[in-house]
Amino acid sequence: MTEPLNPNPRPVEPAALSLEGKEYSLPVVEGSEGERGIDIGRLRAETGHITLDTGYGNTGSCTSAITFIDGDAGILRYRGIPIEQFVDSPTFIEVAWLLIFGHLPSETEYQDFSEDLTRFAHIDESMKHQFEGFPRSAPPMATLSAMINALSCYHLDLHELEDEAELRHAAARLISKIRTIAAYAFRHSRGLPYVYPDPGLRYVPNLLHMMFSQPYSQYVCPILVRKAFNLILILHADHEQNCSTSTVRMVGSSGANLFASCAAGVSALWGPLHGGANVAVLDMLEQIHQGNVTPEEYVRLAKDKDSNVRLMGFGHRVYKNFDPRAQMLQKVAEELLPQISADDPLLDIARRLEEIALSDPYFVERKLYPNVDFYSGILLRAMGIPTNMFTVIFAIGRLPGWIAHWWEQSQTPGGRIARPRQIYTGNGLTDYLPMERRP
Ligand code: CMC
Repeated sequence: MTEPLNPNPRPVEPAALSLEGKEYSLPVVEGSEGERGIDIGRLRAETGHITLDTGYGNTGSCTSAITFIDGDAGILRYRGIPIEQFVDSPTFIEVAWLLIFGHLPSETEYQDFSEDLTRFAHIDESMKHQFEGFPRSAPPMATLSAMINALSCYHLDLHELEDEAELRHAAARLISKIRTIAAYAFRHSRGLPYVYPDPGLRYVPNLLHMMFSQPYSQYVCPILVRKAFNLILILHADHEQNCSTSTVRMVGSSGANLFASCAAGVSALWGPLHGGANVAVLDMLEQIHQGNVTPEEYVRLAKDKDSNVRLMGFGHRVYKNFDPRAQMLQKVAEELLPQISADDPLLDIARRLEEIALSDPYFVERKLYPNVDFYSGILLRAMGIPTNMFTVIFAIGRLPGWIAHWWEQSQTPGGRIARPRQIYTGNGLTDYLPMERRP
């Protein structure tokens, strides 16, 4: 069942603002799920004031029809479809299509798009040499961002996308090539020969083949691993206006091409408060496993504001309840690990940390629950993915969301360059001092 789509938020009763003795009326709009926003588009022009919202916790930067989250109820839907419905049937590629083009693909669309992904999987041979320019120790996220930006040098014809057909060409190239770039970044970091994509393999097995096959032995992807990996990519595919997606939109708002905008998204994702948290979670669990600190001590440190320690994989700007992605990944981890004989002591430590935190008033009062990064690392590790590739896998998953948002923004009538303002707190008018007169 599909609710009728209303691309414009509905105007409802306006808000009244009283400021310096004057009354103003501010329009209020309502989205399709009832969430309301005060439209301050004319605020500065009419009052001379701006709003101040550090970290944008109360600011809607756009309207969007891609993903809906109700953080209090733990709801996440892609194009209206609850995330829980993606557990068994669709592939990551179907979900990518859904996010980008707004509907589930027909059989022909799916086949054609899959064929495009196969055709475009190779990267230009000269790009291969660029990997050699990076030191072995280069973090794969740095290589990934640089190489996605470099793709814009090879696809000058896709800098401006006129219609959905051109979007499809660009999206298929990016979604396919990010996988090859990720695998090559990994191979380079290990000093291993690059493995070409295999046209006979599907999206996930092909990625793992390029990462793990050797000239003398072909990696064969177990079905359970393919399914779990597919789900990880799907659960990361979009999350509305998070830091990296907002970055992609911001860069794109200047008219920058899709490749350059997504490269910026990779950089934003890298940080430990965002996608890099999956690495930080593993570091935390390892520290506890090695006996450097007990779970109880770690939680105590995370509560201590002077310690600079946070319980990684916990808390979320939007979810004030369970992150539904974390719950789904926890279930998969519990099922998968025994089946692929990867019993991992870190899973027990994660369970213990969760138990302590969820019964601690500090976490309960602040509504801090496990987020998607808490269990994804354990799963990736069980599948043999090295820790420094975790955030790269997140980026592969998030790419369809970035593309969908970049396109939605470029198609929104009346779009403007994203350019926040500030409240200046620096020096008043100050004279320049020549060097010899400076103290
Ligand atoms: N451990 C300990 N205290 C925390 C944590 C945590 N993980 N997260 C939030 N708090 C505290 C915070 O110190 C603050 O306390 P107080 O009210 O006493 O000052 C309160 O909870 C509210 O936190 P906040 O920093 O205002 O929340 P935020 O919305 O700005 O930040 C967050 C959200 C995800 C960055 C943060 O919860 C965090 O740093 N978590 C750990 C890193 C992490 O797991 N990141 C992955 C996020 S989900 C996937 C993604 O986006 O990529």
